[in-house]
Amino acid sequence: MQGLAASSMLSLTVVVAVFLIGMADHSDGRRRVISSSSNEPCKEMTLYLHDILYNGANNSANATSAAATKPTALSTTHWKNGTFFGTLVVFNDPVTVGKALPVAEAGDEPAIRAQGFYFYDKKESYNAWFGFSIVFNSTAATGTINLMGADLMYEVTRDISVVGGTGDFFMTRGIATLRLDAYEGTVYFRLQMDIKLYECYI
Ligand SMILES: *[C@@H]1O[C@H](CO)[C@@H](O)[C@H](O)[C@H]1NC(C)=O
Ligand SMILES: *[C@@H]1O[C@H](CO)[C@@H](O)[C@H](O)[C@H]1NC(C)=O
Ligand SMILES: *[C@@H]1O[C@H](CO)[C@@H](O)[C@H](O)[C@H]1NC(C)=O
Ligand SMILES: *[C@@H]1O[C@H](CO)[C@@H](O)[C@H](O)[C@H]1NC(C)=O
Repeated sequence: MQGLAASSMLSLTVVVAVFLIGMADHSDGRRRVISSSSNEPCKEMTLYLHDILYNGANNSANATSAAATKPTALSTTHWKNGTFFGTLVVFNDPVTVGKALPVAEAGDEPAIRAQGFYFYDKKESYNAWFGFSIVFNSTAATGTINLMGADLMYEVTRDISVVGGTGDFFMTRGIATLRLDAYEGTVYFRLQMDIKLYECYI
């Protein structure tokens, strides 16, 4: 009996050890932290996304986003200018911690970018759907946070989901609250993103 107990204990230890090694393999030894309350995210940050839309004329050097579709027949039936339903915009936008858009040197890669797309999905007016990654590439952080969801543009603030992450944001989840912070006509907007993560590996 004694021997049996000892050997079960040994195999249990082996199982636990293998399990721990397995966890370390998948998360670089980091441990999962899940917030117990919506008031206490495990990580939070505010970032500003600068979308400089190609105006079709003279800003190709500065533009960081462009419509990738022609107006659909349905959209032109509704509005002659065909601005809305079905327009898909692809972007690779600079993201900053402060509000100011830094004057980029030629060939200078911003330390944080937002790469993805939005498309307009309402016939009568602007309403969008977002899918993008925030890509971090600096000594402060490397990795991605991946976001998606409906951008209900008539709401002052709207929440989209943080569905995952990589690198320093390994397997994260949370909520990003978006708010239009500034805009210039149809060629520039700045979006404030309050990102709260409720699942972190630290
Ligand atoms: C670019 O073109 C627009 C009109 O399409 C004009 O209003 C603007 O001043 C031009 N900007 C520059 C820098 O030439
Ligand atoms: C491009 O950006 C620079 C720096 O912000 C600005 O001085 C210039 O007027 C912009 N050019 C266009 C065409 O918008
Ligand atoms: C498109 O046309 C509609 C109807 O004339 C107008 O309300 C809307 O502001 C126009 N959109 C743009 C971006 O000019
Ligand atoms: C990340 O930054 C380094 C150093 O500035 C650069 O060499 C590299 O190309 C960047 N990677 C990406 C994906 O932007």
